[in-house]
Amino acid sequence: MSRYWSALGSGSPRGDSIDISIVVPTFNEAANVAELVRRTVAAVEGVRAEIIFVDDSTDETPAVIREVAASAPIPVRLIHRDEKSGGLGGAVVEGFRAAESDICIVMDGDLQHPPEKILELVDRFRQGDVDIVVASRYVGGGTAHGLADRTRVAVSKVSTAVTRAMFPVKLHDVTDPMTGFFLVDRRRIDLATLKPRGFKILLEILARRSFRVAEVPFDFGDRYAGESKASLAQGFHFIIQLALLRFGKMSMFAVVGGLGAVANLLIVWALTEMGVNYVVAAVVGAEVTIVGNFLLFERVVFQDMREAASGVWSRFAKSFGFNNAEALIRIPVMALMVETWHFSAVIATALTLVIAFIVRFVFHSLVVYAP
Ligand code: GDD
Ligand code: MN
Repeated sequence: MSRYWSALGSGSPRGDSIDISIVVPTFNEAANVAELVRRTVAAVEGVRAEIIFVDDSTDETPAVIREVAASAPIPVRLIHRDEKSGGLGGAVVEGFRAAESDICIVMDGDLQHPPEKILELVDRFRQGDVDIVVASRYVGGGTAHGLADRTRVAVSKVSTAVTRAMFPVKLHDVTDPMTGFFLVDRRRIDLATLKPRGFKILLEILARRSFRVAEVPFDFGDRYAGESKASLAQGFHFIIQLALLRFGKMSMFAVVGGLGAVANLLIVWALTEMGVNYVVAAVVGAEVTIVGNFLLFERVVFQDMREAASGVWSRFAKSFGFNNAEALIRIPVMALMVETWHFSAVIATALTLVIAFIVRFVFHSLVVYAP
């Protein structure tokens, strides 16, 4: 069967020669890439396709890719990144940017995603009315048997259910928002607004606006060689990503504040246990927490605003100064509430904490991290 679609990708300024761009993120997949190219080339016969490896490897993967590219019958390109910014998701976005065609397919480099499915995704896209075609493990006929152990099956099912519940409208038609195998029309996504971190790039795309999505079932098979790069750190990235997508920065700010409060209590407890005077313990606890919170603001809350803001020491000075001033002001404000306005101490504490949280968030967003 030979197919040839010059119409695909039309509208793209550069889409004249390539119908589909297959973006493959790789991290140490030297033993997989040759077989992946072989099967992909066979699977896309009749379509003008290119393969773009976006590689962050520390092994000989780039050398193997170059070797395979030299004899491949279709364009095989390599983008090797020295800084693996954004991990898997960042690599995929870089692949979208570099793609010749607007019709981009994202596929893992370990053959857990069968290349033989690619043309099915393309066929479904060509039928029209969709922006994204998802290869799903959880729609009629699909399987997730390549999720090696029971724990990962359970984690995948639970996190998929929770994620769909958090985005009931946008993910209404998507049974597998966490799959790494999909087709997307690049013209429909705003690459600049994506903030990929870690593995869940499709979720990042889907949560940002409404798309017309179709699904095709597939068997998530076993790895051809090597082991999964999924880790606990990826799970942590995923939780942060969910919170940010759903509730924005303020929720992350609250999470960091909550962690800080717990750390503060632990420090005061440990120091007083060691016989340190409680006033000294309270001051040390507060200052350590303020500095710790600042480091987390830098890394997980405002990390995308750092570059445009003032230098790190200036940011630190503002944050540190503000938090100390706020801690000092909070006590007299509470006293005022209790003495003059006759609030109960508990209500006064709760009110000052809530107000302090909001003011602190606004100050950090608008002043500390101001562009
Ligand atoms: N460039 C780059 N940078 N590639 C990476 C990185 C990175 O930091 N980390 C992983 N990769 C590549 C791997 O080399 C592989 O080609 C692909 O991304 C998927 O990584 P795996 O380590 O094989 O992940 P997995 O099989 O556990 O999970 C995959 O399948 C799940 C189910 O479809 C991922 O695609 C998950 O996102 C997906 O949920
Ligand atoms: Mn895999």
